[in-house]
Amino acid sequence: MSTPRPFKRFSPEEDRIWQMLWARQMDNCQLHASRLWLGGLHKLGMTPDRIPDFGEMNERLKALVGWELVSTDVIFSDGQTWFEHLARRQFLITEYIRDEKDLLYTPLPDIWHDTFGHLPLMTDPRYADYVQHFAHVALRYTPQQRKSLGSLWWYTIEFGFMMEGGEMKAFGAGLMSSPGEIEHAYSDAVAKTPFSIEAFERISPSPHAMHNTLFILDDMAQLEASAEQWASLHPAPVSL
Ligand SMILES: [Fe+2]
Repeated sequence: MSTPRPFKRFSPEEDRIWQMLWARQMDNCQLHASRLWLGGLHKLGMTPDRIPDFGEMNERLKALVGWELVSTDVIFSDGQTWFEHLARRQFLITEYIRDEKDLLYTPLPDIWHDTFGHLPLMTDPRYADYVQHFAHVALRYTPQQRKSLGSLWWYTIEFGFMMEGGEMKAFGAGLMSSPGEIEHAYSDAVAKTPFSIEAFERISPSPHAMHNTLFILDDMAQLEASAEQWASLHPAPVSL
């Protein structure tokens, strides 16, 4: 478990990467993002000019939904550590930003992905409660037993679409943070299929390849029900 520590101060060079990512991605987000994500960006006070002050954002997030941000230098944490933090309403922030050559896509979550992709949605109380609930469900199982639950996370929280006012909106944090992924996701190369819990038993995502199928959630209620629905299909968790 990470011990709480002060957030890192980022260099002008790191801020420059943030500025480039923002300039490259914001038009995609204005066009395709859910209202939930767009509203959250505003609530957290993120700006195009620099990596945010996490102390300040932490206070805003605590006030909005009772979650806290925890700094980590682990670039790619194992699922267990990640879920243990989420279960305590703690969101780990990777204090690393991608290289300029990886602006379009990086398989490793970085501070751009964690912050710009995930945090706007985390300002919504229903969404934030669901993420904690998902972690509680995950912790009932061993990593081996919950592999397809990881796929559910991947295709909803990271790369899901959601219907909003009759329109298909980009919802997942991986779509919001990756110019390469969101542009690919809206192309004809990707089949957009209605969400079904059974699909995740047959499909294994790879962080190193672009997708050819992505899923559309009807609404927040369908997302909220999905982790427990997965659990009902996997009724034999061990007691840990
Ligand atoms: Fe993520």
